[in-house]
Amino acid sequence: MATVTPPIPPALAQALAQARRVAVFTGAGVSAESGISTFRDPLSGLWSRFDARALATPEAFAAQPDLVWGWYEWRRAQVARAVPNAAHRAIAALARLVPGLALITQNVDNLHERAGSEGVIHLHGSLHAPRCSACGQAASFTAAPADEPAEGRAIAPPACGHCGAPIRPGVVWFGESLPAQAWQTALAAAGDCDLFLSIGTSALVYPAAELPLRALRAGATVAQVNPAATPLDARAHFNLRGAAADVMPRLLAAAGF
Ligand code: OAD
Repeated sequence: MATVTPPIPPALAQALAQARRVAVFTGAGVSAESGISTFRDPLSGLWSRFDARALATPEAFAAQPDLVWGWYEWRRAQVARAVPNAAHRAIAALARLVPGLALITQNVDNLHERAGSEGVIHLHGSLHAPRCSACGQAASFTAAPADEPAEGRAIAPPACGHCGAPIRPGVVWFGESLPAQAWQTALAAAGDCDLFLSIGTSALVYPAAELPLRALRAGATVAQVNPAATPLDARAHFNLRGAAADVMPRLLAAAGF
């Protein structure tokens, strides 16, 4: 992707400088420059090499638990190797400057946390919070997989220590509901912010993509950071066509932070 460095609109810098409540909504594009594949970008997208729509379902896990678990272990290893980039760091710094900041992510990696963000709202769950597929008991292991699983290698999921059923990834699959508390917190933050920043998301996947629309209805300023067009372009007040790791530090600097 060609490097583009869009100018920071002074009105947006001012809106950020004056905002008391900021909602930051992130998607896979925020982690792209850390080497994590996005879902829908051509060439690099996970889905161009693998049919994730087929793998990311409860039905797939029931039918082929080893294939699905192995795929998530591969992704977990990819995240473990990655390091947070300048966008993750800028968002963490912004939260220290704006106490009323809510960070809502669709990402299942932990790069926001590793950049220093606290209280991250994970709408689509986490690669790092596996749980029992039957009784729901949390299975806590955060270390990187012992050996690097090759993409596509089947790995048997561990058994739940409580009931013996297979452990499943702690992510939201197609057809599943978002975690209720995370969703309610995100809705409240979107409906009660001065500034809503949508960063690195295709804004295609609902209900998450409802959040910027809710912020707009509530009268917030909505800005988007994305090198590509999205359905939100026509509605957002500002569209910064650039990479998050380039734009976010410059946005903070322009706001005087
Ligand atoms: P997508 O892969 O749909 O979109 C990634 C977006 O990031 C695209 O709009 C890219 O243009 C943009 N992008 C790429 N590089 C970027 C960069 N360096 N800086 C900023 N933006 C960049 O990912 P999401 O919108 O996160 O859900 O996808 C939403 C959900 O779809 C995912 O959480 C996942 C999937 O279904 C579940 O797994 C439940």
